[in-house]
Amino acid sequence: MESDDPFNNALAQLASITDILSVDPEYYEILKSPMKQISVSLPIKLADGSAITFQGYRVQHNNARGPFKGGIRYHPSVSLAEVKALSMWMTWKSSLIDIPFGGAKGGITFDPSKLSHDELERLTRKYVDAIERDIGPEVDVPAPDVNTNAQTMAWFMDEYSRLKGHSVPTVVTGKPIELGGSEGREAATGRGVVICAREAVRSLLKKEMKDVTVAVQGFGNVGSNCVRSLMEMGAKIVAVSDVFGGARLSNGGFFEGDYSHLAELAAKNGSVSKIPGAEPISNEELLESDADILIPAALENQITEGNASKIRAKLVVEAANGPTTPMADKILDRSGIALVPDILANSGGVLVSYFEWVQNLARDHWTIEVVNDRLEEKMKKAFHDVLNHSEKHNLDMRRAALVLAVGRVVSAMQLSGWH
Ligand SMILES: NC(=O)c1ccc[n+]([C@@H]2O[C@H](COP(=O)([O-])OP(=O)(O)OC[C@H]3O[C@@H](n4cnc5c(N)ncnc54)[C@H](O)[C@@H]3O)[C@@H](O)[C@H]2O)c1
Repeated sequence: MESDDPFNNALAQLASITDILSVDPEYYEILKSPMKQISVSLPIKLADGSAITFQGYRVQHNNARGPFKGGIRYHPSVSLAEVKALSMWMTWKSSLIDIPFGGAKGGITFDPSKLSHDELERLTRKYVDAIERDIGPEVDVPAPDVNTNAQTMAWFMDEYSRLKGHSVPTVVTGKPIELGGSEGREAATGRGVVICAREAVRSLLKKEMKDVTVAVQGFGNVGSNCVRSLMEMGAKIVAVSDVFGGARLSNGGFFEGDYSHLAELAAKNGSVSKIPGAEPISNEELLESDADILIPAALENQITEGNASKIRAKLVVEAANGPTTPMADKILDRSGIALVPDILANSGGVLVSYFEWVQNLARDHWTIEVVNDRLEEKMKKAFHDVLNHSEKHNLDMRRAALVLAVGRVVSAMQLSGWH
């Protein structure tokens, strides 16, 4: 029976490399538990005068390679187990893309669509007040994740700066450009996913992007920017979806290359699933689409023991964190379906967050061309490092990526004398 606890899945992934990456077992013991788990109660007054207390978390997994780093999620399913898993994946991701950060994650358990703009601001400020002593530019640097965005980061920075008595732009990344945000940060995760997809299509499918079809689950920051970059490269989008459901786009025909038309219709109709003329499908059907590439860009546990054998794509590129369970990994592998793992595919977000932090520290502002060129260079290198390692040692790409990432973290711990 497979577990739907994301932290169990993260631990199972770590366990899958202990026979391959031979290090002192004491290091694995350290890495199995986050260094710090913070749980906070967040009481706020709602607009109708009632008071409600929310539950918030910040989990700091490891900082051997640099300050803790990771996003903040607002979602009803946020739990300590989920945040712990996401914090561990952040440690591997920062290491794999080779930036001087560790891994952390935060979240508040609630449905943001039920709060007003003002209530969301109050809750965000309350959360900053509660974790202020555990974060900071050299300590732990948050960023956006599911249901948080540049506006959330602006409130975050403002509240932290108010508490410190001076402006501290380096405390968060993913800020609006006007407040020290980086060019290209918003699109970076999706853009990086598609750079990985392009490299995988060339190396593994021996094709070019203009010759492939793609289904994308999720149309938020990451999913929509994946679709945009895919269309720019000439790939055909055959299906898209969001929390309300999916839409089959008749071989990409009526949106060929025109991202803004698709995004406009999705916004006007309140969901990609309600685009006029498209055939409505469920999220389950989207995952089983007859497309060359499947990009899950929503939440964890989407490809499971239950549906992995029905996946028809030749390549899965994980834009979301933890969308494939360990059991499903094995089924995909047996079916000959290649998978580019999350810690590699979606690392463009934390990479450009790092670029933002560096620009803020230097009081500098890079052009979009500089940001995108550096993103391209780093993503391409990380992709080929993982692919070469996987081919050389006959490993699937998830285990190859983990071996490289965990190896670097252990090396930093050894050099620093953690034992
Ligand atoms: N934002 C980033 O920079 C970033 C970086 C790395 C990884 N990620 C990961 O990418 C994923 C998406 O994050 P995001 O920032 O785009 O969030 P978002 O809130 O902007 O968008 C989430 C999207 O998923 C859809 N969705 C939610 N539940 C769904 C379901 N059950 N079925 C189908 N669709 C569903 C929503 O409708 C929305 O379109 C998450 O796993 C996140 O951790 C995000």
